[in-house]
Amino acid sequence: MSLLCQEMSSLAHRVTDKLSLKQHMVKRVAVSKIIFIERDNTRHVAEFEAGTTLMQIALDNAVPGIDGDCGGECACGTCHMVIADEWFGKTGAVNDAEEQMLSMTPERARTSRLGCQVKTSEDMDGLIIKLPEFQM
Ligand code: FES
Repeated sequence: MSLLCQEMSSLAHRVTDKLSLKQHMVKRVAVSKIIFIERDNTRHVAEFEAGTTLMQIALDNAVPGIDGDCGGECACGTCHMVIADEWFGKTGAVNDAEEQMLSMTPERARTSRLGCQVKTSEDMDGLIIKLPEFQM
């Protein structure tokens, strides 16, 4: 094999290796999504990184009806959202401060949460949230 052919072959192998690595990286950074559903069934699909709160994801994606007036301090109740039944178990436990705030929420449901008190995790990809008609 000539020197030129050897160099071409080597270059082809390096390009192939880089393409494989890129494909592998694309698979690893697959984006997770949350679906917010308004009362009229309008859907808002929001991408998120694990560790972000549900409230922040809603605000970052201009989801209507989520205000987050206290900035996530569990003091206003304007981030109330209702988790779809099948997902509720993934959202963790309601803490005392959240329970107090939820008790004053007009449209409280069995699976209500304050979005500022729920940190997302990777296993929440596909989470469905129903938005209340009104906030406090
Ligand atoms: S942002 Fe105020 S209680 Fe969640």
